[in-house]
Amino acid sequence: PGAAGIDRAGYDLIVLANRLPVDRVADSAGADRWQRSPGGLVTALHPIMRAQRGAWIGWHGQPGPPPDPFTHDGIRLHPVELSEDDVDGYYEGQSNATIWPLYHDAVEQPIFDRDWRRSYREVNERFAAAAAGLAAPGALVWVHDYHLQLVPGILRRLRPDLRIGFFLHIPLPPVELFCQMPLREEIMRGLLGADLVGFQHPHGTRNFQRLAAHLLAAKTTGEVIEHAEGVTTAATFPISIDVATQQRLADDPQVRARAAEIRRELGDPQTLILGVDRLDYTKGIEHRLTAFGELLAEGRLDPAKTVLVQVAVPSRQRIDHYQALRERVERTVSRINGVHAGIGRLCVHYLHQSYDRAELAALYLAADVMAVTPLRDGMNLVAKEYVATRTDDTGALVLSEFAGAAAELSQAWTVNPHDLDRLKDAIVAAAHAEREQQTARMRPMRAHLRRHDVNRWAADFLNRLETPAGRGRVEAAA
Ligand code: ADP
Ligand code: G6P
Repeated sequence: PGAAGIDRAGYDLIVLANRLPVDRVADSAGADRWQRSPGGLVTALHPIMRAQRGAWIGWHGQPGPPPDPFTHDGIRLHPVELSEDDVDGYYEGQSNATIWPLYHDAVEQPIFDRDWRRSYREVNERFAAAAAGLAAPGALVWVHDYHLQLVPGILRRLRPDLRIGFFLHIPLPPVELFCQMPLREEIMRGLLGADLVGFQHPHGTRNFQRLAAHLLAAKTTGEVIEHAEGVTTAATFPISIDVATQQRLADDPQVRARAAEIRRELGDPQTLILGVDRLDYTKGIEHRLTAFGELLAEGRLDPAKTVLVQVAVPSRQRIDHYQALRERVERTVSRINGVHAGIGRLCVHYLHQSYDRAELAALYLAADVMAVTPLRDGMNLVAKEYVATRTDDTGALVLSEFAGAAAELSQAWTVNPHDLDRLKDAIVAAAHAEREQQTARMRPMRAHLRRHDVNRWAADFLNRLETPAGRGRVEAAA
């Protein structure tokens, strides 16, 4: 069917997320092109939407008038306009300087601002109106992440016929922290507008039930929350990756050749330690660097034989917290290299750049130790990508207990990144692990991922959204 025809008849499945899976960027000649957007949300949803032929409503990454709806990689994309003010208030302000730090244990101080809240409301209304206009009767609408927490409630009023799901990709904090938020009741009412609300970790689900009771006197029985507006199911759905695609990349001869080349280019180190993160203060990059620097200084890792490659994907660069983090990370990297590097031999290769999936896979294959040490992380897909890439069951994963992924990847070298001594011990243990030890840990983790890939995650969520168990609201209305 022609794309215009689909738009008129309405879609049976719509995803709403702040970001489209592609950003508009200018190439070196100044012409526009589309580039895949960073982050775990896009990684997870992209393969599903390609298979399901739904529509994706989101922002194309630049302020100003949006392009017309278009199809990219088999997915119908409907760009939503954000003005300069919206980008300041809704995206960089309320979403990424209030909610993001607050939901990540306030590891940076959240900033509260009335104008940002107004902007957040307006943009949430715009997204809801876009979905209301594109959804077929009775369609499934799946709203994603902390930018759009008011959308389910608004959309419910506009289109009571829809089945509305919401998934939070980041942690939901405990009552004590969440209640700092001036928008707390409004956000809870917004989320409870959904038939089904999903979280990465049982802690998030439990915090949601407690918040519903504490702020709105709602009653929870099992997974079902009864509240003034109806009934909402809350449950845990740990997100995953497209394991088959990751394995195909891992087995691609070009990727394998590139992995060998990376090691040669790094001077054939005995131990290559890798970090891959958006440059974000939740990711524990500074703790990791400090641990590495101390291990070199103490001679527990040999500076002539050990290399740390830290990929720090540029992220949210106009926000103060992120600029300050970049300064601190870059100072620490240069301090470590200043003391421990030699001519033509760096100890830390710091790459503030974006890489495509094949180059990332080559890095995962090249790395002896993958260090994933966030202070708080909803899931962390990088950890899962590393495991899925190691198809020969070698390699060693050091994983923070504060990443959602730790609930599943229990055979990793699990650490509390705040405990510097234990973090150092874990890095050394992983670096020195014998092959049998590596395999004994890697094999069950890889088997777990094969059974729990992103397709299963999406099917579990969408089936649940369609089944009568979550149907309270429809029954109540009948
Ligand atoms: P977060 O969602 O906080 O960024 P995750 O580890 O869950 O953290 O997800 C990061 C995802 O972004 C991974 O799937 C990773 O492969 C992907 N990624 C890393 N670098 C890039 C990049 N330059 N462009 C697009 N995606 C990237
Ligand atoms: C995390 C969030 C996503 C977000 C991504 C990248 O994964 O959960 O919602 O898209 O980070 O961040 P950005 O601000 O660039 O969209």
